[in-house]
Amino acid sequence: MNRLTTVITGTTHGIGRVAAQALAQAGHRVIMLVRDAHAGAQVREAMMAALPGAALHVVPCDLASLAQVRRATETVCTEYGLIDRLIHNAGTVAMRAHATVDGYERVFATNHLGPFLLNHGLLPRMADGGRIIVVASCAHDRAQFRTDRRGESSEPHRALDALAHPAAPGWSARQAYDRSKLANILFTFALARRLAARAPDAPRISANCLHPGIVHTHLLPVWLRLLKPLISPGMIDAQAGAQTLLHLALHPDAAALQGCYLDEYQQIATPSALARDVALQEALWSRSLRWTGLPPEQVQ
Ligand SMILES: NC(=O)c1ccc[n+]([C@@H]2O[C@H](COP(=O)([O-])OP(=O)(O)OC[C@H]3O[C@@H](n4cnc5c(N)ncnc54)[C@H](OP(=O)(O)O)[C@@H]3O)[C@@H](O)[C@H]2O)c1
Repeated sequence: MNRLTTVITGTTHGIGRVAAQALAQAGHRVIMLVRDAHAGAQVREAMMAALPGAALHVVPCDLASLAQVRRATETVCTEYGLIDRLIHNAGTVAMRAHATVDGYERVFATNHLGPFLLNHGLLPRMADGGRIIVVASCAHDRAQFRTDRRGESSEPHRALDALAHPAAPGWSARQAYDRSKLANILFTFALARRLAARAPDAPRISANCLHPGIVHTHLLPVWLRLLKPLISPGMIDAQAGAQTLLHLALHPDAAALQGCYLDEYQQIATPSALARDVALQEALWSRSLRWTGLPPEQVQ
């Protein structure tokens, strides 16, 4: 059987778990990159029971560790062939600022830097017609760049530097998450521009991002999970929250999209002005290369 191959991060809970199962059901070979290998194996077992004969694989990958991302990239590259769908789904929220083993702020590292490095490593393995899908959020819209305690705005490009640092002044849980989701869109648009400019004989690959809706998942701490339906009465379950991701992965019409941001109704939407700022996209891209230890791009 000639299966499409999907690599997807964060399948132990929520949107990623539903999406991984739906993709396996659609006949994809699904490679699940998970932070917790034990939980990943349990999820795989449950999915195999529901879908006997499915092709499901688990690869450990803590996105908050650049070394683990490099190892997972190597495993995927050596053990699996071409990739048809690369889905950056995993995401996290933190109530306090923590440093990763690499010394970066954990939410930014998990939600942006790890996926950036993974993407870089797997891009050469993407098949012609491949689709890269990034789960961003409408929360990007709230992202601001304020770097001091008095709340004074500073120039966004300079403030990018503060994103990666766990001890940045004025750190807040909400801003850290919102900015990481802004980074998802800035990254997707910069990537799509590069993919669109590739030589005509290079594999055709698309990159698009999405807001899944306000979804009842494990993303928030338990107390906030209980409170959230009161604050956001339009909350949907993970099954509904996976639909835009699945549309981008499976629908034939989605093959024509490049550099788009889709809302929870699978419609193309306009993200914030900051997200559309090309200079900011490029500034994040060049810094992300440096932060992940990748060489600077050669200017043609
Ligand atoms: N829920 C919403 O309302 C909402 C709205 C907009 C956007 N989103 C986005 O949707 C995506 C999926 O989130 P969800 O709502 O489904 O949340 P979830 O239920 O908490 O699932 C998040 C997944 O990401 C994984 N993950 C967390 N940290 C990781 C790390 N360091 N390395 C690898 N995987 C890691 C989690 O693994 P563990 O089980 O090991 O923690 C889990 O499998 C995220 O990108 C989120 O920002 C969600």
